[in-house]
Amino acid sequence: MKTVTVSAPGKLMIMGEHAVVYDRPCIVTAVGSRIKLTIEELSVPEFMLDAADVNVVEYKKSLSEIGAGYIPKGAMFVEVALRNVMQSAGVDNLHGNGIKMITHTDFSSQYGFGSSSAATVCVIKGLSEYMGLSLGNREIFNLAYKTVLDVQGKGSGFDIAAAVYGGTLYFMTGGKVIEPIQIDELPIIVGYSGVKADTVTLINMLAYKAKSDPSSIDGSYNEIARLVDSAKSTIVEKKWQLVGSLMNQNQELLKSLGVSTDKLDAMIEAARDAGAYGAKLSGAGGGDCMIAVAPRDKTQAVKDAITAAGGLIIEVESNVGGVKVEAY
Ligand code: MEV
Repeated sequence: MKTVTVSAPGKLMIMGEHAVVYDRPCIVTAVGSRIKLTIEELSVPEFMLDAADVNVVEYKKSLSEIGAGYIPKGAMFVEVALRNVMQSAGVDNLHGNGIKMITHTDFSSQYGFGSSSAATVCVIKGLSEYMGLSLGNREIFNLAYKTVLDVQGKGSGFDIAAAVYGGTLYFMTGGKVIEPIQIDELPIIVGYSGVKADTVTLINMLAYKAKSDPSSIDGSYNEIARLVDSAKSTIVEKKWQLVGSLMNQNQELLKSLGVSTDKLDAMIEAARDAGAYGAKLSGAGGGDCMIAVAPRDKTQAVKDAITAAGGLIIEVESNVGGVKVEAY
């Protein structure tokens, strides 16, 4: 039986969220919590999906109906990615056979680590291997980004880039720039707020605000872009104190945009009081995670302070490799 297993990393936004949706840059790192996808051949022309982490068990559809009709929420990215690959390869069947996909994740989809984007990238890389399409990273990025836009209508694609390329990236809207930041470590502390955020709702909220006060929102995005550009070289030089200060300034702008929460603010404040160089929310805001950079000898105190403020410390490696084949 023909089979292939691939994996892709999750992501953490370091700086530049929201502004990156509007033609500004951001910095993102790939994290060591990965999604794994196995593709197996079926003898009938059907698509089957088992994705227990998102409550999809033994979902089944005829290959001729892929992307049409009812699609459960948990199957949406995977099925639309399959449709996009089949369309771009110009095939409407798989030689009379079907495929089964099984996903496993190392992390909860609650954390905002980009599990949908990582799964989308896995599907495209996995199908490329399975169907012998030899897609390069740029083609995988383009098809995955199209899938995200097809499903949720909005997004910069930064999470797709992290899942495809891995490492730590300087990224600009839609993949106009995808530039690796050459570092061997990114010592960040991650705290989960316990609240699941909805990215599209937060993007819409800012789009609405921008309608009534375009120059102020635009000004904030320009400021954020300036901070991101400074952080790019500062991270390479490992000037963590300066990186922390840039993160703090980024957080103030996010707060004034209205996307932080009391819980995130309390965790960020606690981290700074315990000696962190800097701390900010990571991602869309409204919940999910905050990140901090701290001197090595203060790391434990910062973690304890975040915990005392009601956060959950997530031990996760950053700057890890992108999508890859695990087994044939
Ligand atoms: C969400 O994690 C980050 C945003 O900038 C959205 C995006 O870039 O797609 C708010």
